[in-house]
Parts: sequence; structure tokens; C-alpha cells
Amino acid sequence: MRIAFLASGQGSNVRAVVEACREGKLPAEPVLVISNRASAPVLAYALEQNIPAIHLSLSKSSDESELDTAMVQCLKEHRVDLVLLAGYLKLLGPATVDTFSGRILNIHPALLPKFGGKGMYGIHVHRAVIAASERETGVTIHLADRKYDEGAIVAQSVIEVRLGETPEELAARVLQREHSFLVETLSKILDGRISLPMLSIRPDS
Ligand code: GRF
Repeated sequence: MRIAFLASGQGSNVRAVVEACREGKLPAEPVLVISNRASAPVLAYALEQNIPAIHLSLSKSSDESELDTAMVQCLKEHRVDLVLLAGYLKLLGPATVDTFSGRILNIHPALLPKFGGKGMYGIHVHRAVIAASERETGVTIHLADRKYDEGAIVAQSVIEVRLGETPEELAARVLQREHSFLVETLSKILDGRISLPMLSIRPDS
């Protein structure tokens, strides 16, 4: 299984998956990292790991449609089977979503459908969870479509919100859970314990 990552930031989830692949815990190969930010640490990490690292953004394309086409071309060139959005802050274009339909996963640091949507990323999510006096939060892995944080939920892991916890403390605990839960969920997808039917079909080359 050839995995591509789309990420905008640190890439700690990318790192968790790459390490699991390299340690033989996941029967998958990290083949590509794409970021919309040229200076994203995740691109530097990919280069260190000898994984092709590509910056794709509107600064390199004349419009959204050209960017969308470039994304599809890049994913196809690298013969990608599964796309993992790991802290990717942009919406995908229609061609990318259609070509890789059912094979794009997103990880979100809350229990969707709560605390998702535009603007709900990073610390904003955890502030909202605490402001709403939620007793539980967690991690959601779901199929991505053309809207923020929608698409069928594949797996969720629940985390208790501690009394008096700050958003920063909660964010750190959730992120740590993300790393193990992401690897665990990918492992179940790869060995068929979780079924993603489209994954067995390769996109047209
Ligand atoms: C994670 O919390 C992920 O759930 C969200 O963005 C964050 C990315 O963190 N979509 P990192 O770049 O993997 O460290």
C-alpha cells in the first residue's frame, strides 16, 4: 500500500506513520509528502527520510483548478493508493476528491461531528471543547470529501477531559493519542479488519 501524506505543519502524525512503516509495524510504504506551505517542517522531515517532498500551492499554480490538476497528477505519478490528510489546512479540489474517492482519510482531534468545520483546527478545537464543558473529546479518522471534516467516520477514540485542564494540556494528550490511534487504525484498514471498499481499486493511471 503506497501512502501519500498531505500536511501543512509539524507532521507529527506523518512521523508516527512513517516510523511504523519503517519498523515493519505497518505493511505500507510512505511514497510522498505534499504541503501547501513551502516552509512546513513536515517537508524537511520528508526530505530527511528520503521521501519525495513536494510543495503545491496557489503560489505555484494560476488558479484552484490548475492546482487540483497538479495534485492529481502528482499523486498518480507516485502511484499512490491511499492519501492521508494529517493537519492539511486546505480543502481538496473536485478532481482530487473524485479520483481518489474513498481512499482519502483525514485525522481530526475531536469527536466529529462535534467540533469540526471551517476554523476548527489546532488549539481552536480544544478551546471549544473546554468552553462547551465537554466531559469527553477524542480523535476521529474519517473519509475526506470536499467539505471540512465531513465524510464517513471510519474510527473514533474517546479521551476524557480532565477537570481544570487547559486547552494546551488537552491538545498535547489528544495529539499523543492521535499517533497511536492512527497507526492502529491504518493497521486495521490494511489487514481488512476495517473495510474501505474503494481501496482495492487503483485510480486510472
Ligand atoms: C492534528 O491534531 C490532526 O488531527 C489535525 O492537525 C494536527 C496535525 O498535527 N488535523 P501534526 O502536524 O501531525 O503534528
